[in-house]
Amino acid sequence: MPRLKTAILISGSGSNLQALIDACADPAFPAEIVGVISNRPNAPGLEHARAAGIATAVVDHKAYADRRAFEAALDTVLKEAQAELICNAGFMRILTAGFVERWRDRCLNIHPSLLPAFPGLDTHARALAAGVRFAGCTVHFIRAEVDAGPIIVQAAVPVLPDDDLASLAVRVLTEEHRIYPQALRMVAEGRVRVVDGRAVIDGAAAPPEVLINPSPVGSSS
Ligand code: GRF
Repeated sequence: MPRLKTAILISGSGSNLQALIDACADPAFPAEIVGVISNRPNAPGLEHARAAGIATAVVDHKAYADRRAFEAALDTVLKEAQAELICNAGFMRILTAGFVERWRDRCLNIHPSLLPAFPGLDTHARALAAGVRFAGCTVHFIRAEVDAGPIIVQAAVPVLPDDDLASLAVRVLTEEHRIYPQALRMVAEGRVRVVDGRAVIDGAAAPPEVLINPSPVGSSS
């Protein structure tokens, strides 16, 4: 089976990129990374790609007059890499409706909240301020609205009484690194279809248990 040619867009540290690199290192994984593109020349994530021998490119948004010109340059690099799918992994540029349509259902994003709760920035601060009992992360197909689109996988983590921004962020990020490869695998296996604006996954299994937080004290039920 040919592996799905996947490009990764980054802006920063690239820990999700590293999780995808690790998954794709298995020759049996159904996707391969054909290129890593950063809009920031000094994004530390570029080093992860170079260390893995993956082609990198910088498309610096500051070098272009507007979003359309920036995205045209992106498209050129994606075409040269023969990318069939894009994974945004900490890519901090808003993409225009035109780009989103060109890559409709072929561009994934990961977001550190249980969407549709807390789209945008500062998700963990807002989750803590809201007092939610669960936080989490979401892999979804992109749409023109920021952090919206058919949801492929989510992971929920408990918010604990002593949590601060750092502890919650670490707990969520650990699960990001788990679910992004899972989502990419399912998409690359051709098991994900978008029907009426929702992602339908063939052969998806639901988790066995309901999660309740806080657990009822002194009770097993
Ligand atoms: C992650 O929390 C991701 O969900 C968000 O930006 C962060 C990127 O982290 N979109 P990294 O660059 O993958 O380490």
